[in-house]
Amino acid sequence: EIKESTVLVILGASGDLAKKKLFPGLFGLEKRCLLPDDLKIVGFAPDEMSYENFIDIIRKPIKLESPRFAEQLKQFCERCSYVSGHEGGDKAFEALKKRLDELLKGRKERNHLFYMALPPSVFVPMSEMLKKHCYSERGNSRIIIEKPFGHDLESSRDLQKHLEPNWREDEIFRVDHYLGKEVVNNLLVLRFGNEIFGSIWNSRHIESIQISIIEGGGAEGRGSYFNSTGVIRDVMQNHMTQILALLTMERPKSFSSDDLCDQKARLLEWIEPIEHDETIIGQYSKSEDGEKPAFKDEEDVPDDSKCATFCAAIAHIGNERWNGVPFFLKAGKALNESKTEIIVQFKQSTNVNIFNDLLPNKLTINVQPNEGVYLQINSFVPSLETKTEAINLDLTYRGREIPEAYEALLLDAMKGDYSRSVREDELDASWRIFTPLLHFLDGEESVEPRKYAYGSTGPEGLDEFISSYQQKR
Ligand code: BG6
Repeated sequence: EIKESTVLVILGASGDLAKKKLFPGLFGLEKRCLLPDDLKIVGFAPDEMSYENFIDIIRKPIKLESPRFAEQLKQFCERCSYVSGHEGGDKAFEALKKRLDELLKGRKERNHLFYMALPPSVFVPMSEMLKKHCYSERGNSRIIIEKPFGHDLESSRDLQKHLEPNWREDEIFRVDHYLGKEVVNNLLVLRFGNEIFGSIWNSRHIESIQISIIEGGGAEGRGSYFNSTGVIRDVMQNHMTQILALLTMERPKSFSSDDLCDQKARLLEWIEPIEHDETIIGQYSKSEDGEKPAFKDEEDVPDDSKCATFCAAIAHIGNERWNGVPFFLKAGKALNESKTEIIVQFKQSTNVNIFNDLLPNKLTINVQPNEGVYLQINSFVPSLETKTEAINLDLTYRGREIPEAYEALLLDAMKGDYSRSVREDELDASWRIFTPLLHFLDGEESVEPRKYAYGSTGPEGLDEFISSYQQKR
C-alpha cells in the first residue's frame, strides 16, 4: 500500500526523464486506479513556469487511448503542482518545504518521497539540501536515484559515502529500470515456480547462456554523454548484470527485498572480473550507404575517441552450479536491430544417434520487443517417416497488456517495497566485475575498438570469438 499523506516530488521536472518516463508512468498508475486519493505530486525545477505550462509538459507525451481516460487525466493534473527553484540554494528548498507543508497541513503523518531526475553530479548537493530543509520529522522521507551511480568501483563508493551521513540505506531507492520490465521480473517465477526448469538449471544440463542488449539507434544527440560513458557503463554494469544475477542466483528464502538482494549480491560475488582478452570492443562507423553517421561524427565526440559502443564479453561464475558454463554478454548501439534477449543453450542429449538431425534444447527469453518465452524441443515431423524437427513451445505475451517498467518501479518506490531497488552491496559487486576492464579501456595501453558499420551485426570476428572459445573448452 502507498501510505496516506504522501507527497512525491520530482526534482528535474522539466527534464527528459521526467517528461518521457516519470509523468507518463505515474499517469499509467492513475489509469489503473492505483494512486491513493490524497497522493500529491510536486514538480520542482529551476525554470520559472506557470502551473499551466507545467501541466502542458505532463500532458504532451500522453496519448489518450480512450475518452474515458480524459477524466482521469484531469484528476491526475489536479494532484500535480509546480515549485520553481529559480532562486537557487537554500531559498529554492525553503520554497519546496513551504509547498510540502501546505499540501500536508493538518496531517498526523507526513511522507516525503524525492525522485532525483537529475544529473548524477548534483545527487550529493541536492540530497544534502533535501535533508536540511525537507526531511519529514513525522513520517518517512526517501530519495530515489537512478544510474549512473559513479563511473567505477571507487567513485560509486565515494557517492555512497557522501549520501550516507544524510540518508540511510532504507531511505535510498536505486532504480534500474530493467528490473521493472515484465519479462525480467518473470525470470523469478520461470525459474523458481517451475520444477522442470528449476531442476535442470545448472552446468550439468546447460551448455552456455547468452544475454544481449542490442539497439538499432546510435548515440544520436547524446554523443558527449556516451563518449564519457560507453556501452559497458551504460547498460552492462547495471541492466545486464541485474538480468544475469536473477538468471543465476540461488533460490531466495522468500521474495522479500532482503532475501532477493542477498541472493543477487551473493551470486555477483562469484563472478570473476572480466578480462580484456575475453572481450571484443567495437565502435560504429558510418552506415554502408553513408546515410547514418559514425559515432565520431556526433557533436562533442573527439576524432580520436576510443569509446566502446559495442562490447561482447565472456563472464564466468565460479560457484558449483555454474562452474564451466560461459556467459556470453553482448551489448551495442547502432546495430541491425533492437532487442534484449536471453538464450539458454542446453546440452545435446545423449543417445542422439538413434535419431537424425536432433538439435539441443534452447530456451529463448525475449525481454523486448515481442515479449515472450520460447522453448525449442525436438519432435517428429508428422509423416510416415521417422524424421524429427525442432519446434518451439511458445509462451508469448502477444495481446496481453504489459505495464511500463517505470509504472512498476514508481509504485514500488511509493509503497516502500525495495525488492526491485538495487542494494548497495549489489552495486558494489557489479562495479567490481567491470572496473578492471573499464580502467584498461580508459588507460594509455588501451586498444583501438574494432570498427563496424552503423546498422550491421557488429564487429567482424564475433562468431569466431564465440566458437573459438567453445572449442578451447
Ligand atoms: C538506458 C541507457 O539506461 O537504457 C540507454 O542509458 C539505453 O542508452 C536504454 O538506450 C535502454 O533501455 P530500454 O528500456 O529502451 O531497453
